[in-house]
Amino acid sequence: MIATFPRLFEEGAVDAGQRRRPGPDVVRRRGDLTAALAGLSPGYVATMGALHDGHLSLIRRSVLENPRTVVSVFVNPSQFGDPSDLAAYPRDLERDAARAGEAGADLVFAPAVDEIYPPGFATAVEIAGPSERWEGAARPGHFRGVATVVALLLNIVRPEHAYFGEKDYQQLLVIRRLHADLAFPGAIVGCPTVRGPDGLPLSSRNARLLPEDRERARVVPRALFRMAECAAAGETDAEGMRVAGEEVLAGEPTVRTEYLAVVDGGTLEPLGTVVPGARAIVAARVGGVRIIDNVAL
Ligand code: PAF
Repeated sequence: MIATFPRLFEEGAVDAGQRRRPGPDVVRRRGDLTAALAGLSPGYVATMGALHDGHLSLIRRSVLENPRTVVSVFVNPSQFGDPSDLAAYPRDLERDAARAGEAGADLVFAPAVDEIYPPGFATAVEIAGPSERWEGAARPGHFRGVATVVALLLNIVRPEHAYFGEKDYQQLLVIRRLHADLAFPGAIVGCPTVRGPDGLPLSSRNARLLPEDRERARVVPRALFRMAECAAAGETDAEGMRVAGEEVLAGEPTVRTEYLAVVDGGTLEPLGTVVPGARAIVAARVGGVRIIDNVAL
């Protein structure tokens, strides 16, 4: 536990009853977080809650590599295009705090919306380059919202290491760019995607798949794995590899592919020839759920 917590609790900054419940302490105000950290730069995992084993793998890695770990739980309104999607986003702070604590987190930062975006807030962080294609084109404004909140959260938490999953590979590149360009201290650490036994990446959106849609959705990672097999077999023609992935997707016509591409892992530009660090990326709709996934080639 962070040493300054008993004092915070006495002052009422930590939720009443917190210390009797299992799990880490939860703070809601940025000033309380700063006071609790007492100048220490922690390991950090930013989340929107609905914690699953993918998040827990990030938290466990942070716990191994840092003396203290902070997990933020904040459903960021500015990265949602559709208000009904924002309203439907699952919220269960007590469960999330308990899961974060089981994975070893010391502290959960769960600010209210006006703690992050107080009245008069008028700033947005726009990252050109990695924000522009693919998810950026499909979800206008999404990466502006992500970059703005991540910049704020990094400024508030001031981590030594901040851990993000490769599952949202484009988001990881956007955050790396932001971190480098705005000269944030510490390091961004990309972590491998955690998959379920059916190959699908763990994600709060994929958890919404109905059982029959989940069965159909398995074709999405299978297409990527097929492309990775082609790369492992020495195939260097990116279009040939993409067609091999498309053939797998065609086996499940109810899955609507939005894009499937072989791209440079640093710039996300489409490739003609597969080079070291290349990735296969995909977005597809299954039932009402949009699935994104990627693999290294
Ligand atoms: O990946 C997410 O959960 C969110 O985009 C993030 C990075 C926590 C920003 O809200």
